[in-house]
Amino acid sequence: IIPSFKAADLVIQLTSTPKIKPEVSTFGTIFTDHMLTIEWSAAEGWRAPLIKPFGNISLHPACSSLHYGVQLFEGLKAYRGDDNRLRLFRPMLNMKRMSKSAKRACLPAFDQSELLECIRRLVEIDQDWVPHSDSAGLYIRPTFISTEPSLGVKKPGHALLYVILCQAGAYFNNEAEALSLWADPKYTRAWIGGTGDCKIGGNYGCSLLAQYEAVDYGCQQVLWLYGDDHQITEAGTMNIFLHWVNEDGEEELATPPLDGIILPGVTRQSILELTRTWGEFKVTERYLTMSQLCSALRQQRVREMFGSGTACMICPIGHIVYQGKTPGTPAGRSHSAWRRR
Ligand code: COI
Repeated sequence: IIPSFKAADLVIQLTSTPKIKPEVSTFGTIFTDHMLTIEWSAAEGWRAPLIKPFGNISLHPACSSLHYGVQLFEGLKAYRGDDNRLRLFRPMLNMKRMSKSAKRACLPAFDQSELLECIRRLVEIDQDWVPHSDSAGLYIRPTFISTEPSLGVKKPGHALLYVILCQAGAYFNNEAEALSLWADPKYTRAWIGGTGDCKIGGNYGCSLLAQYEAVDYGCQQVLWLYGDDHQITEAGTMNIFLHWVNEDGEEELATPPLDGIILPGVTRQSILELTRTWGEFKVTERYLTMSQLCSALRQQRVREMFGSGTACMICPIGHIVYQGKTPGTPAGRSHSAWRRR
């Protein structure tokens, strides 16, 4: 049994000044009325979880999440169904991934079901923030940071797990359009033995410079490559899918395998599981290289490419810039076909 906080010990302090809910705006800018915080220390273990009015947190200036990036996060969504009931989308997968990231970051273990129940209570309290919409939802951001107040590079003796909720409007500015990607081996998102398969802030912070270089090349996001054979790994903050006619003439939906450098996305897993039930085409987790993709684009064998993620959901990919050229654009379906399905 993992020593953990218990949802039954939740302390709830409701706000006396609820905010006026604005129109759903840009992703992750407007937060709800409450947050969940749970403190941990090596000496005392987990404290009782607390739901309290949303507000700033105070940190010791030496804390190791700020200095050494000892932290992690998650992203999941709550949706309102036609029946007006709220549902979290496959939340145990996020709890499981969060535990894995915690182990990698040397942050303490917790009981996944207890955290999920605390999150469920938080969403219930802020339920009026979940939009009445069949496409938009409320984004849930569990965060786990070291609050170790000292500069030694060591396993933290203090930590804070907190959860905030925000409106999940469009992730990209021009959602109707397909994304353009800059594919260049100059920067590497993740490598074998690294943290690319965990949801750790450093993976994202380190991607920013490349992201802005992509913009200099007239693209919106980076197509992350790996290895001498320029394997395709991820696009921006998303997993990547290629729907094509493969080298053997088979219609295939392919995405790179979870070999340690790919973030095990919940949307990725759901797409794989769902499309396997369709039986419409081969569905594979396999390596894909830029040379395979370029030949397929030239030969018009690419039906569509898209990115997937909790925040962006399904995001069609338009053109790719690689070695100063655009090898072609996906030919088949209309760009929103996958999103509609
Ligand atoms: C998500 O899709 O939930 C992500 O984590 C991407 C990003 C907002 C960092």
